[in-house]
Amino acid sequence: MDDGHNRPVSRELTNLRPALKFLLPYRRQVLWASIALVVTAGVTLSIGQGMRIVIDEGLSNGSSDILVQSISLFALLMVVLTIGTFVRFYFVSWVGERVSADIRQAVFAHLIRLHPGFFEDNQPTEIQSRITTDTTLLQTVIGSSVSIALRNILMFFGGLVLLFVTNPKLSLIVIACVPFVVAPVVLFGRRVRNLSRTSQDTLAEVGNQAGESLRNIKIVQSFNHEAQDITGFEGRVDVAFRVAVKRIRQRSFLIALVMLLVLGAIATMLWVGGQDVLSGATSPGELAAFIFYAFMVAGSVGAISEVYSDLQRAAGATERLVELLNAPSELVERQVPESLSGAPQGMAHLAFSKVNFAYPGRPDVHVLQDVSFQVARGEMVALVGPSGAGKSTLFDLMQRFYDPTNGAVLLEGIDLRELSLSDVRAQIGFVPQDPALFAGTLYSNLTYGAPDATDQAVNEALALAHASEFVEQLPEGLQTQVGEGGVGLSGGQKQRLAIARALLAKPEILLLDEATSALDAQSEAHIRDSVHELKGRSSILVIAHRLSTVRQADRILVLAEGRVQGQGSHDQLMATSELYARFARIQFASEEARVLQARTVG
Ligand SMILES: Nc1ncnc2c1ncn2[C@@H]1O[C@H](COP(=O)(O)OP(=O)(O)OP(=O)(O)O)[C@@H](O)[C@H]1O
Ligand SMILES: [Mg+2]
Repeated sequence: MDDGHNRPVSRELTNLRPALKFLLPYRRQVLWASIALVVTAGVTLSIGQGMRIVIDEGLSNGSSDILVQSISLFALLMVVLTIGTFVRFYFVSWVGERVSADIRQAVFAHLIRLHPGFFEDNQPTEIQSRITTDTTLLQTVIGSSVSIALRNILMFFGGLVLLFVTNPKLSLIVIACVPFVVAPVVLFGRRVRNLSRTSQDTLAEVGNQAGESLRNIKIVQSFNHEAQDITGFEGRVDVAFRVAVKRIRQRSFLIALVMLLVLGAIATMLWVGGQDVLSGATSPGELAAFIFYAFMVAGSVGAISEVYSDLQRAAGATERLVELLNAPSELVERQVPESLSGAPQGMAHLAFSKVNFAYPGRPDVHVLQDVSFQVARGEMVALVGPSGAGKSTLFDLMQRFYDPTNGAVLLEGIDLRELSLSDVRAQIGFVPQDPALFAGTLYSNLTYGAPDATDQAVNEALALAHASEFVEQLPEGLQTQVGEGGVGLSGGQKQRLAIARALLAKPEILLLDEATSALDAQSEAHIRDSVHELKGRSSILVIAHRLSTVRQADRILVLAEGRVQGQGSHDQLMATSELYARFARIQFASEEARVLQARTVG
């Protein structure tokens, strides 16, 4: 809703125009709905004439034939109206649902291919609410408000014409009174609507707070924060209640006012019109028809003013959705990408060539500077360096989540920008620093990148990741459900699943970002053995924090402050790189102490 966003939103109705594009495929349904709309409006308008005939011809003249005829006609009109209303309502709602479903799908399909940097500027939670609330708003508008507006515009003009046809003098009196009747109703109506929107917002806040507290229940209770939470919650609920009471008061007033005005209007018309009937200037049927049309005209004005604000809000919603739909990806793909099968012979499997990089959100901070290195096919390279050195950023660039500011990342000698994104990523198996899992079964998480994997391949990957044992111990094995983010698993279990998930896709290049940080020494040793088996088959880059892993690598790359500070074996670097030696002393000291202790104890 527009109140939920801090940016000013335009309420120009022209913003609704892009939504029309989504209507195009459903011209047929729109046509049916329009026909039904015109027919029902016509029939409704003709009911007034029907009333006139029944009263004047049938009742006044005492002719039962005419009464029967009129009533038959009336019955026929009712059948037409019923069918017309069904058709109109069905198709209009159908189109509303279909269009909002299409927009949702289009927005999601566009967003999921956008460059990851986009979601640093645009909060996923905000986008989520756009996909749900904004499209729902559009659905109501297309599925009802537009049709209500059109129907009432037809009724308004039709009713007005028929008013004058029925009784010009009385019509002029009514027209003069309309502003006095409609203005207060519109005014109060708007206030009630605004209040009900505030009421929804305060209620949403109530929900948010409850959600946040309950999701973090262990933190709340650990800090003895329950009392504060209750007080805060009660405050919000009370605010919501007070807003609701205000709304109720206005609404009661509105209802009473409408009653008064309506009855007053009837009384006036009966009085003025009644005198005409008495003097013979008008027939009773005309008077009845007149009152009928007067209501129709007044009612349509009210209805139009009611939906007008809906249309405005929908215009804002459409603008925001179109903004999302038109957001360009910064990772431009070539129309006709190069293919890896045509790669030149004898090039390094993976290479960084004079790469400079700054995150788009912080263009002044040079995260990587003049980084050049190569990884041969089948080689295992360990990346070490202090926190914040840019190690994970290297992995981001290898998968082309970002493009380098300067220089190039090359796969078999081809710039990543010349390849298709899916080709690049199909080469790579990635185990992130924080192993994200999805809600679903362990099995669906494992086969995430390889949905067609055989059971044997799954079991192999589990064994390599040293995960078979704990999976077997779960009562439902691979069919165990995990929550969003892997709720229900320990940190180390999640890591092992993430490793198995990456291995299952049989990547050419394996990227491990501190993939074993949460594991005990024994599990880590197992995985080290597995990685050893993979050596030579896949190229492996591992961001490592343990000496044992570093020693296993063919080569070590030292990264600090975004620069490659040295490379070589552990012993070479100990001798040549002061930085590495210092880093190794601190980082690996406790580990070596443990090993030493184990030896002395053993
Ligand atoms: N999305 C981002 N936007 C802006 N700056 C970022 C972003 N991600 C990381 N950085 C910054 O880039 C630098 C390098 O981060 P990176 O994650 O590559 O470090 P790292 O070497 O992996 O560190 P660690 O060992 O702690 O994981 C850091 O200074 C970090 O603050
Ligand atoms: Mg990192």
